Order: sequence, then C-alpha cells, then structure tokens
Amino acid sequence: MEDGPVNLREFQELAKRNLPKMYYDYFSGGAEDQFTLRENVEAFQRIMLRPRILVDVSKIDMSTTLLGYNMSSPILVAPTGSQQLAHPQGELATARAAAACNAIMVLSFASNYSLEDVASTCNAVRFYQLYVCSGFLNKLFGPLFDTFCLRFHCFITCSFEQFLQVFKRRDVSATLLQRAERNGYKAIVVTVDTPRLGRREADEKNKMIIPRNSNLEGLISVDADLTGGSKLEAYASETLDPSLSWKDIEWLKSITKLPIILKGIITAEDARKAVDAGVSGIVVSNHGGRQLDYTPPTISVLEEVVKAVSGAVPVLLDGGVRRGTDVFKALALGAKAVMIGRPVVYGLAANGEHGVRSVIKMLQNELELTMALAGCPTLRDITRNHVMINHERPR
Ligand code: FNR
Repeated sequence: MEDGPVNLREFQELAKRNLPKMYYDYFSGGAEDQFTLRENVEAFQRIMLRPRILVDVSKIDMSTTLLGYNMSSPILVAPTGSQQLAHPQGELATARAAAACNAIMVLSFASNYSLEDVASTCNAVRFYQLYVCSGFLNKLFGPLFDTFCLRFHCFITCSFEQFLQVFKRRDVSATLLQRAERNGYKAIVVTVDTPRLGRREADEKNKMIIPRNSNLEGLISVDADLTGGSKLEAYASETLDPSLSWKDIEWLKSITKLPIILKGIITAEDARKAVDAGVSGIVVSNHGGRQLDYTPPTISVLEEVVKAVSGAVPVLLDGGVRRGTDVFKALALGAKAVMIGRPVVYGLAANGEHGVRSVIKMLQNELELTMALAGCPTLRDITRNHVMINHERPR
C-alpha cells in the first residue's frame, strides 16, 4: 500500500469513503453527546513525553507476555462486533491479520463468523469476549420455558421466576464458555460495562439493522419486534443480562478453567473488587465512548486503577489509542498492554485482511520509533518519569 494511509486517521477516512453511511456511523459513533468518545482521543494529547538522551537504542525490543503468552508488542485487537459490515471476510480477516502480527485478538461475543470458524481460520493465541446473556438454550428448553413462563405466569412465585431467570442466563453463557474452551481460546474477557446498551443517536436516526450474531444461532430466542428501525437497543435488552453482579463473576470462575479478565472498569473501587473476586486481568475501558457518556477518558483513570491493583493482575487499557506515542503513554502510566477497537475495523473496511495488518504494523512501528526517540530500548525501560500530564511538574 505505497500510496496508502500514513497514519490511523487516514485509515478512518478511507473507511468512511468505502462504507455505507449506516455502517460507518455504527462503527465510528459513540453515546449521546459523544463527549467521552472525543475525550478518549484528546486526553492523550494532554500528555507530554519526557525523553531521555544518550541511551543505546540500536536495538528495540517491544516483545512482552500476557497471562504467559508471548506477543511481539503490547498491542491487542479489542473485541468489536459485526465485522462483516466492514468487509465480507469480517472476523476471519482480522484473525489472520492479528496472527500475522503476533497480536492477540479478542473475538467479540457479537461476531458475524462463529467462534469455531474464527478458531479454524489460523493458529494463534486468541481470547473470547463474553456478555453474560439473559437468553436461554432455545433448542432444548426454549419451548418448554416459553409455555411455562407465558401461560402460567400468574402462578409463578417471584423467587421461582428469579430461579428460572438465573437458570436461563447460565445456560447460554456456560455453553459459550465451553465452546470457547473446546476451540482453544486462552482467556475469557467478560465485558461489564453493558447492563444495557448505551444510546447511540446515529444508529437511531439511520434505523441501524441488527447484525447477525453467529455464536447465538440456535441458542437464543429474541421476542422483541425488530422490524422497521434501529432495534439494537431492543435486541440488546433481549440478550444482555442487566442483573449481572459480582456473584456471577464467582460463578463464571467456577465453570471454566480459563482465566477471566474484566473489561470496562474505570474506578479504583471496582478494580479492588475485581482483584478480590480473583480475576486474572482488568481492562480499563469505557467501551470506546459507546456506553455511558461523560465517563472520563480511559487514559485519565489508568493510574488510579493501576495503583489500586498494585501489581496483583495485569491492567490493560483501550479507548482512543491512535498513535505509537499513545501506547507509550499508557505503558508509562502502568498499563501492561493496550487494545485497539475502531482502527482495526477501519483497516478492515479500507483493505480487508491487508488493511488490518497495516493498521497493527503501523502502530507497532510507531511504538518502536517512540521507544527509540524516548531512550527506552525495552518496555521495562518505560517509566512514569517519561510522561508529564498537562503542566505537571517533573517527578
Ligand atoms: C465495540 N466494543 C465492544 N466491546 C465489547 O466488549 N464487545 C463488543 O462486541 C464490542 N463491539 C464494538 C463494536 C464497535 C463498532 C466498536 C467501535 C466498539 C468496544 C471495544 O472493545 C473497545 O472497548 C473500544 O472500541 C476501544 O476504543 P477505540 O479503540 O475504538 O477508541
């Protein structure tokens, strides 16, 4: 791609040209005023770098590990749903590109290709992202429960109804976990910032279609009327479980041997609870500004979370990472690694698998150059003293 994009922003422009407006708005948009969406990017621009000179940077080593798995750089692919809207090869193309860059891909719960298809497209370390579901195993129990719950609703006591709800939810989530384990996924990333879907006004205006979720086919029955307009919210409320709470994390841990990472933590209080709950990692994330608007940009709360966790588990960050310097800043503030969401989708829309590979490589190359110019030959050399927030005095 010699005449291709020279930075991630140009990939976004290419994606905008290539995609129908409805799909571009879906990928690029955020919740309500989109304050958090903008701030995620802009907050990085308020952090300055403090390079050190006369350090031998003839060799730069960006390699690292996460949960014991090697990665060529501290950059992962964040879970983003419905990638076939960006390119017919969707998640398959992303998986191949991530594997070629030795970057871990987190496959979205809401993928268009099934987790089995993605697992068989190439050999690489992959994680699976889970939303805990409120649906139930349609094939086996669906008709029975439908009849029972609807026709005899008035006879069901509250506690028995609650029991059924829990049972339903656990069925689908447990099935997905087993499938992820069977297909070689190495960790489960449980997204915890989405008890309900954030309000994305562009999707409402565009009457956004409901993309297909291959992983749920045959598992969940959706009763909402999904015709004639954006029904993403209605669809989400049929599939997501708003009653999800800390005790469910215990339950998830009890039914899988895979490490569990919580995605969507932005306070020290919740970070401490997550460590107490025995999770294996935390992703500081506000869902790329798509959920609760006016949450702080992730880079501004990273240090708070890192301090609260005090090294007990790795802390990752996503939201607004668009430059190698952004990755460097996140590492300086204590992140073990970062994840990128939209840039990957833009790469996919721009040029399929090749586009995603270019996006990841571009960010890796930018990080490598940043490390050289900042006097940090290895990731371990990047410290808090290499960054300065606003007019903060040097430490
Ligand atoms: C997402 N994100 C997301 N997160 C998740 O846990 N499950 C999902 O299915 C999705 N789907 C999704 C779709 C689209 C189009 C976007 C843009 C985002 C959130 C994603 O994992 C990540 O948190 C953000 O994308 C990170 O912000 P940036 O890199 O997009 O700024």
